[in-house]
Amino acid sequence: MSTDAIVILKEDHKRIKKLFREFQNAGDGATTAKGRIVSRIIEELTVHTYLENEVMYPEVRKLLPDLEDDVLESYEEHHVADVLCFELFEMNAGDERFDAKTTVLIENVTHHIDEEEQDWFPKVREGLGRKQLQELGSRMNDLREKAPRSPAQPSALKKAVDAVLA
Ligand SMILES: [Fe+2]
Ligand SMILES: [Fe+2]
Repeated sequence: MSTDAIVILKEDHKRIKKLFREFQNAGDGATTAKGRIVSRIIEELTVHTYLENEVMYPEVRKLLPDLEDDVLESYEEHHVADVLCFELFEMNAGDERFDAKTTVLIENVTHHIDEEEQDWFPKVREGLGRKQLQELGSRMNDLREKAPRSPAQPSALKKAVDAVLA
């Protein structure tokens, strides 16, 4: 298992994008299959967001103040995804808005992932270097075990509430 923070986050992105393709290829009538795929998307995004919010974003903000604007934009993009995930979590896959909401989630998260991978990660790698990225990565690996997996879990919910009230 890699301990480079950026490698770890990119592996998450890869799994998330694979699930996005599965949803897009599932076909119009595949309600049960799509419901199951969306549950997995929500779980992956909940864990990934937790790791970025607990470790990556605050540390980069502290260590590389020049990247503060990028971090703030990321918080806002994650906030939109959090709201959509929470709504999808509460929704039945047969709801007429389920596919549309998932499509908007996929569009938003794909945009965010592309920005992280093409623009933000290269700047972070240049600014932090190998050793610091490995320290952050091993903290994320440790934290992954106790990360919330569902938006209904207290730690995930608290994050969403904090984001709304902040
Ligand atoms: Fe992110
Ligand atoms: Fe990410």
